[in-house]
Amino acid sequence: MKDLHRIRLRVNGREHELTVEARRTLADMLRHDLGYTGTHLGCEHGICGACTVLVDGGPVRSCLVFGVQADGTEISTVEGLSRGEELSDLQQAFSDHHALQCGFCTPGFLMLAEAYLAQRDAAGPPAGADVDGPDGPGGLTEAEVRELIAANLCRCTGYQGIIEAVLATARSRQRAASPPGHP
Ligand code: FES
Ligand code: FES
Repeated sequence: MKDLHRIRLRVNGREHELTVEARRTLADMLRHDLGYTGTHLGCEHGICGACTVLVDGGPVRSCLVFGVQADGTEISTVEGLSRGEELSDLQQAFSDHHALQCGFCTPGFLMLAEAYLAQRDAAGPPAGADVDGPDGPGGLTEAEVRELIAANLCRCTGYQGIIEAVLATARSRQRAASPPGHP
């Protein structure tokens, strides 16, 4: 007998109500029940990060979470980054810096980086960081980005372009947030 549950959640700002089996993963629910196929499945056991989505703003490997656990949450998937045909700044930076090749891993990297940049913007630069100097944009260092993206696997492009894209996005967001006349 199937163990079915009725749940409600928001995905990219859109309300959904559906019935899911208790054993269905969040990744399968998003892809097969709700049609958000931008979330990719690689390893399906928590290693590669391709399935990363945001649950209430935090990055989560959707292959390791059951759909029923998302009841009442706000989910963000890669489909929610762009505005129609217009890429988000982070997506554009990935394109500009050649941060993808086959693109299979890209949704996971985008969501991971988006969550990190948003959390950092909300918290402000670390105490003592030289935001305009060698610490990098907003105090974000290359080493910090390397550590962040080590969570996910890319098997074809290499990581340098991804690092550059994340740093470039942090830089442009910092410029946009600076008051007029600030360097
Ligand atoms: S598919 Fe979820 S971590 Fe690899
Ligand atoms: S771009 Fe192909 S796996 Fe990362």
